Amino acid sequence: MSEEKKTIYSGMQATGNLTLGNYLGALKNWVNLHQDYNCLFGIMDLHSLTVRQDPAAFKKHARSLYALYVAAGLSPEENIIYYQSHVPAHAELGWILDCFTYMGELNRMTQFKDKSAKHADNINAGLYTYPALMAADILLYQADLVPVGADQKQHLELCRDVAQRFNSIYGDVFTIPDGYFGKTSAKVMSLQEPEKKMSKSDENLNATILLTDDKDTVIRKFKRAVTDSEANIAYRDEQPGIKNLINIYSAVTEKTPEEVVKEFEGKGYGDFKMAVGEAVASELAPLQERYNDILKNKDYLDQMIRTNDEKAAILANKTLRKVHKKVGLTDRVYYPFPPKKEEPKEEVPAADDGAYVQMSLTATKIKDKDTITVKENKKRK
Ligand code: TRP
Repeated sequence: MSEEKKTIYSGMQATGNLTLGNYLGALKNWVNLHQDYNCLFGIMDLHSLTVRQDPAAFKKHARSLYALYVAAGLSPEENIIYYQSHVPAHAELGWILDCFTYMGELNRMTQFKDKSAKHADNINAGLYTYPALMAADILLYQADLVPVGADQKQHLELCRDVAQRFNSIYGDVFTIPDGYFGKTSAKVMSLQEPEKKMSKSDENLNATILLTDDKDTVIRKFKRAVTDSEANIAYRDEQPGIKNLINIYSAVTEKTPEEVVKEFEGKGYGDFKMAVGEAVASELAPLQERYNDILKNKDYLDQMIRTNDEKAAILANKTLRKVHKKVGLTDRVYYPFPPKKEEPKEEVPAADDGAYVQMSLTATKIKDKDTITVKENKKRK
């Protein structure tokens, strides 16, 4: 972590397959952020538990999400990519922040209302206090900026309020985070009901492109995409289906919507849909190849996870320790990371942030060998 750089924090829940919407709207835009920021990306598996999960499928998805992050181009060497549940400080600070969050605030959360309606048989306390845990995620790392979609803005606001409340009692403990709105990211809509956001839980399988869909599937879904009867490729709200396809094509090819409209002037919807399908499929092909390689390379993946979990824990525990002190919890002897100051220096291998523990040494050795494989994969891109 560099002192001069600001810190960015974001994450996704560990459920289901990622969609083209998750990719174009978030993941793809995270890839280069590390050049200008310290970046942490979590796999929010504790948040996923607010909805009942099938244990085996959950475990598998959480693991493949890590591989997808990396395959999409998020480097686990340049970013800290880790599991929320592997850093106990999240749950611990989450509890403490529960005690600084008012029920009145939580009652106003639209996501809670939506999810309660959707899971009426399981309106659990976790669903309710979800935003306090999310605040803990962000505040533990003293994040300056949080890239979030519109649906998470309210949670970020709450996080700021809770952090300010805490700071006003105890002094400057938390950095107050702002939303990060970089270059406008694509909002990808359903291919079947283009007024609705593309969602991994959509029952209509043709509505959603999964990052793991093969070429034929991708093209078939685009061919069936709902459009209109205007027979005119124009970028306007009155043609939401075509507008969505233009947005997708423009995000993948990095052309502006105007350029896309020009490119397809006078062409039919059939040709355009085919072109969008082809463009998306060829964007996804190398990603899928890397994804499969990473999942196959179990040792490499395990090693990355372990090293990154540790890096996250070091940072998180620093904040947690401070919070414990401030609120007056009695001194705690054991925080697994960072190592206590009085531990002999030579047991702490030099690292950029000077805070590694012995375990990483052994870890790095295995990693070097396997890093080569992944670097080669990257080149193939
Ligand atoms: N609630 C977020 C979502 O569903 C996921 C999330 C959890 C998150 N903790 C976070 C996002 C912290 C950004 C920062 O999309």
